[in-house]
Amino acid sequence: MKHLLKLLDLSKEEIIDILNLADQLKYETKHGIEHHHLKGKALGMIFEKSSTRTRVSFEVGINQLGGYAVVLAGEGSQIGRGEPVQDTARVLSRYVDGIMIRTFAQQEVEDLAKYGSVPVINGLTDFCHPCQILADLMTIREYKGSFDGLKMCFIGDGNNMMNSLIVGCLKVGMAVSVACPEGYRPPKEILDFAAQYDCFELTDDPMTAAKDADVVITDVWTSMGQEEERAAREKAFKGYCVDERIMSVAKPDAIVQHCLPAHRGEEITEEVFEANANPIFDEAENRLHAQKAVMVTLMKD
Ligand code: CP
Ligand code: NVA
Repeated sequence: MKHLLKLLDLSKEEIIDILNLADQLKYETKHGIEHHHLKGKALGMIFEKSSTRTRVSFEVGINQLGGYAVVLAGEGSQIGRGEPVQDTARVLSRYVDGIMIRTFAQQEVEDLAKYGSVPVINGLTDFCHPCQILADLMTIREYKGSFDGLKMCFIGDGNNMMNSLIVGCLKVGMAVSVACPEGYRPPKEILDFAAQYDCFELTDDPMTAAKDADVVITDVWTSMGQEEERAAREKAFKGYCVDERIMSVAKPDAIVQHCLPAHRGEEITEEVFEANANPIFDEAENRLHAQKAVMVTLMKD
């Protein structure tokens, strides 16, 4: 494993290895055991979209591993003025030991890896959000003990979160059911991947998707970069709010996950969100541990 560009590139074993290392690093962090696996190493972080969790968890994470972060906002760097990614990749590779990037097009992340010579980590694109899903899988395993026999249901937009959850959950052995309105389905590449699995279901009915689910997941209806579509999306996703009615058909011990930020009253009710605050904020915390595991896997000598 040279990069983390998308979960489609990873084997089940590579995903499980990262999760196991994340568990270990979490244990060591909680018990004050130092783990300076990346002593003196620099992580370059490129943000062409907003972030709270990704920014803070990567920066704290690389520091806990003995390294340090250099942050580049799209605005204020030459990237924002159109310097080609091929050149940015070759320049940054001379300075840093790994690059985390959050941007719009998946191709930009793939090109950064192609033209650079250091590991590249995808911190979210329009297509996928692999770091988030590693944290989600880590949290699901903490709450449920294993992935065997579990059903994950995602209700909402066929966006970066749905795409990565479909791939990640199917790869580790979970059944997956997703509900989204027509016109907001995941792209063909994801549906073609999912079609290899009998335990995958795509529906436009949230109640069908949520039936007997162990984990119910949702995300915003309007992702970063889609702000002009907000009104149309609010209309299209009416009926896709994760509420008590939807939760009533899931397993009684089902947990809810949300990558955050959440829009209470849109994709999730205040009641369902607060009833699941523990797993949701554990999920946010696990970004730190999962990404540390990714950085150690990719950047350690
Ligand atoms: N979930 C997530 O990626 O959060 P940020 O946008 O705050 O980084
Ligand atoms: N789908 C959301 C996820 C934010 C973490 C977005 O891309 O804006």
